[in-house]
Amino acid sequence: MNDDLRFLDELFRIVNGALRLDIAKVRNYSSFLAEKLDKAGEVAAATRLRRLLEESDHTLKPVGITNRAVPVDGESRFPLMERIDVRGLADPPLVLADAQWNIVNEFLSVSKSQAQLESHGVSTSLTFLLYGPPGCGKSRLARHIAGELGLDLYIVRLDGVISSYLGSTSKNIRGVFEFAARTPGVLFLDEFDAIAKLRGDEQEHGELKRVVNSFIQNLDALGSQSIVLAATNHAELLDRAIWRRFSYRLELTLPSLGERVILWDGSLGPIPCSPRDKRLLADLSEGFSGSDIHEACLRLHRTRIATRQTPGLPEILGVLRNFASGEGAERRFLARLAYASPQELAQALRARDAKLYSHAALAAVLGVSKATAYRWTMEGDSIHAT
Ligand SMILES: Nc1ncnc2c1ncn2[C@@H]1O[C@H](COP(=O)(O)OP(=O)(O)OP(=O)(O)O)[C@@H](O)[C@H]1O
Ligand SMILES: [Mg+2]
Repeated sequence: MNDDLRFLDELFRIVNGALRLDIAKVRNYSSFLAEKLDKAGEVAAATRLRRLLEESDHTLKPVGITNRAVPVDGESRFPLMERIDVRGLADPPLVLADAQWNIVNEFLSVSKSQAQLESHGVSTSLTFLLYGPPGCGKSRLARHIAGELGLDLYIVRLDGVISSYLGSTSKNIRGVFEFAARTPGVLFLDEFDAIAKLRGDEQEHGELKRVVNSFIQNLDALGSQSIVLAATNHAELLDRAIWRRFSYRLELTLPSLGERVILWDGSLGPIPCSPRDKRLLADLSEGFSGSDIHEACLRLHRTRIATRQTPGLPEILGVLRNFASGEGAERRFLARLAYASPQELAQALRARDAKLYSHAALAAVLGVSKATAYRWTMEGDSIHAT
């Protein structure tokens, strides 16, 4: 990017705020610009800008503190959104397929060039819909995007916004969007299907439908000024009017075998694991989400600290078998073996992939000697043969 254009985005927004007499927007973006100037080494300019901010406000707020208090629900006074400073987070690396990265990177590069696109009169609608099964990285990706853009993430749980009284629902929606319009950040509408459920339900009051429509109008009115992400586990509930509002879309699916190897790698931390062991774990975790793998590792780390013993493959397999049943069980072959005996397990794994589950590998996975693994699988062979 041409260096002179680096700060154009914020300048446009400050001018926009000034023309609308939106002092909060002017202040928020000016202070954001000061932070950006600081980071770019333009310390003198940042100081000058901060001084201007101080001079214009005789209530003397400390430098850098701006009106970024999030809106609250009219009835319960609960905050409607949560602000996350993603810079402080130590997330394991995000694992996506190349085709998925392409879409994410396209969105990021357009977002970074927003100011230039605006100055060329190319309208940019920066709305990105993330959908797919639970635990496949939608929220993780939202954090990644905010991090890459150097912005805070504002998470709005839509059912929280909607489940209050009708009158306050409209006010809440307006509050969320007005806040987004004047505050630098990425707006993340989580559990987005909450909105679609309202509209699809024929029994519902006409007033509720009006609420949904007002939501769509607010989203449209935000235009090219803000960056909006939405996430849902139930994309099938969203109707065409809503899909149309999102020009970028990404399905986050269960991780492939290769992705599971990387996920194990990213989450095992100090638990030692050879490349062959990772390959075994990736196979055993077929049908598991990134979140399942991450949770399994957290559980292993806890045990490691509590028992002061480093878990091996048999312990990891134990956790995986425990995690295999329940929601999504039909996708995991291990669910059928959750309560199988070690011998049945040996036979099932051998039948699944005799090359991968060699006798040495089975011995390592089950925590027995190679001779025992051999005997168990041979007994299986004789059962199959009869
Ligand atoms: N693709 C992935 N790459 C790296 N880590 C992942 C991935 N998917 C899930 N995880 C891990 O699992 C955790 C939980 O995932 P996340 O909260 O992003 O799922 P989600 O899709 O938002 O689920 P939900 O629909 O339940 O909100 C993440 O913080 C991360 O540690
Ligand atoms: Mg989520």
